[in-house]
Amino acid sequence: MTTEPSVAPVPGTSSTPLPGTSSTPLPGTSSTPLPGTSSTPFPGTSGAPLLEARSLTVRFGKVTALDGLDLIAPPGEVLAILGPNGAGKTTFVRTVATLLRPASGELRVRGSDVVRDPVSVRRDIGLGGQFAAVEPMMTGRENLEMTARLFGHPRSAARRAVSSVIEQLGLEEVADRRCGTYSGGQRRRLDLGASLVGAPRLLLLDEPTTGIDPTGRREVWDAVRNLAAGGTDVALTTHYLDEADELADHVVVIDHGHAIAAGTLGDLKASVGRDVIEVTVADPSRLDAVGQILQRVTSNPPRLDRGGRHASAPASGGASELATAIRCLDDAAIGVDEIGVRRPTLDEVFLTLTGDQAGAPVPASHH
Ligand SMILES: Nc1ncnc2c1ncn2[C@@H]1O[C@H](COP(=O)(O)OP(=O)(O)O)[C@@H](O)[C@H]1O
Ligand SMILES: [Mg+2]
Repeated sequence: MTTEPSVAPVPGTSSTPLPGTSSTPLPGTSSTPLPGTSSTPFPGTSGAPLLEARSLTVRFGKVTALDGLDLIAPPGEVLAILGPNGAGKTTFVRTVATLLRPASGELRVRGSDVVRDPVSVRRDIGLGGQFAAVEPMMTGRENLEMTARLFGHPRSAARRAVSSVIEQLGLEEVADRRCGTYSGGQRRRLDLGASLVGAPRLLLLDEPTTGIDPTGRREVWDAVRNLAAGGTDVALTTHYLDEADELADHVVVIDHGHAIAAGTLGDLKASVGRDVIEVTVADPSRLDAVGQILQRVTSNPPRLDRGGRHASAPASGGASELATAIRCLDDAAIGVDEIGVRRPTLDEVFLTLTGDQAGAPVPASHH
């Protein structure tokens, strides 16, 4: 696991200037127009895309983590950036958060350029990482109030901001308990809370549910949906298709540092839209032979599941390819327990898009 930047940028621990540490009004607390809106080429921030990347390239020495990434995400929607491990998701989030500087290309956040106008970008965003700096001996409320004070809220304003965050996240029942006693989902919601005390317009979440149990995932999903319903834009990364399915209006699939598909998840499923032929063999030692037959019949690479004795392959030809496969298996004298055509699972959709079996550990639900 990489160590993500902690949830709330803490003044004094980072070399970058931070929101709210100077005399500037905190985001969301002022009724004056946002700084930076006039310098954007868009008619106003509200009309600007949430995120807009053009040929965005970010390097770590010789490693090109983002390689000419293009994406545009509409405002007012939850964006999911979906991709296998190493695709460049964290790099993208950190670049949006102005923690990394692009080697080339452009990136605008709500109309503000991350290189030319990083202060406006930071004022707009909250960053949630996987591991927040939370003090386990303090209660959730105390932790959030400490974060709010670090953001520059005076004590009474900090209390108010924290109460509202606790309510937004449904943490009332546990807020006054020590965090050391929290479940994974409660702890993760507290992480979200720490990134919300600055009232960001855009909340960035890097793999918000990785490593927590199914109950915790549901809690975090509910919290994210609440925030979005309350008007906070959310951009999250995930390598779980079901998470994108649950939360996102708009999905961008990235692989090897560039976007390979974008749209609603429905669009993506439709674009892949092929059925799958699946064979269960009686004798697992024949699985490779079955794979070769499926490859020949469908012209697609098969997936072999040795434990389950299954082989499958996407089939655009449906029933006629199924008939051919049955004939070939029969000719090869391969005993078959079951054979049929079914709809692709979400992870197969993802595999088809990324075309990379090794790089796609997607334990998405299969139904
Ligand atoms: N600090 C770093 N130094 C060198 N290479 C890095 C660093 N951070 C990420 N990378 C590389 O950049 C690529 C994208 O990584 P990352 O953005 O973490 O992907 P993801 O979050 O999708 O798993 C990977 O090849 C990774 O090894
Ligand atoms: Mg990552």
